[in-house]
Amino acid sequence: MSQLRRPKISVIGAGFVGSTCAHWAASKELGDVVLIDINGDAAKGKALDLFEASPVEGFDSRIQGGSDYALTANSDVVIITAGLPRKPGMSRDDLLATNAKIVKECAQNVAKHSPHCVLIIVSNPLDAMCHVAMSASGFPRERVIGMAGVLDGARFRSFIAEALDVSVEDVQAFVFGGHGDTMVPMPRYVTVGGIPLTQLLSKEKIEALVERTRKGGAEIVNLLKTGSAYYAPAASAVQMAESIVRDKKRYLPCAVLLKGEYGTTDLFCGVIAKLGAKGLEGIPTLELNVEEKAMFEKSAGAVKELVDAMAKLGV
Ligand code: LAC
Repeated sequence: MSQLRRPKISVIGAGFVGSTCAHWAASKELGDVVLIDINGDAAKGKALDLFEASPVEGFDSRIQGGSDYALTANSDVVIITAGLPRKPGMSRDDLLATNAKIVKECAQNVAKHSPHCVLIIVSNPLDAMCHVAMSASGFPRERVIGMAGVLDGARFRSFIAEALDVSVEDVQAFVFGGHGDTMVPMPRYVTVGGIPLTQLLSKEKIEALVERTRKGGAEIVNLLKTGSAYYAPAASAVQMAESIVRDKKRYLPCAVLLKGEYGTTDLFCGVIAKLGAKGLEGIPTLELNVEEKAMFEKSAGAVKELVDAMAKLGV
């Protein structure tokens, strides 16, 4: 027999985001899936339920759940979604101290059982939680990647497609910077079927779509009232996982630890990243104009404030 084995994807946190990640990952047959939660029975129940859907939907994926990290041993990719979601009126930053403790513990446990995995962080405030996961796991920057840009970019793409009444498939767009109110959508680089967006919509209309994108997470929180978005965040995390386990080497907007790129050092911030089997495999350089550079620096500054706040809180 060959050495072929199915990739293993573990998801930490079996709430709405985590269980939806498991759902997308299994239905795309990315590999075997493990769902972990402090409420082990809930994770086990959701995993069993999803497994029982597989004969109907026709996907082959072994799906397990529980609270024991031993189940995650030797994962290729681990998606950390654990933590509290925000409620109406809260910013992502309000979750800082609580989620830092949770993410720290999760990352330590994951690293113990899967020392070679690639971590995808989803918990908020995203960029700060990437710092926590990196120091708790001891992993190099190649293997700690935050999910935000794919989600924010997907929101931007959806709104553009709706405004132009065209297929979402033909809209290419990405978002730079931190996953917060200072995120930097990049309209200058948006294309629709290869045509620059700036030739298709007025400046004012583009600005309105940019604003809606910046507040896209809050728009959902205000409608759900009891938590935050999960379909689009989970789909985005799974797209990143897919690029890694299938070594697709896609260029996706992600939060990565910058080491001098874009004039920023030792901070996680959203940029275009090449994702393959090794995790982060490169950061292509994008030319930013003066305005974009200023917005990026402001956004990186907001991430730095959170990192400094965590240091003060001792988390
Ligand atoms: C959002 C949350 C998950 O943007 O950060 O919906």
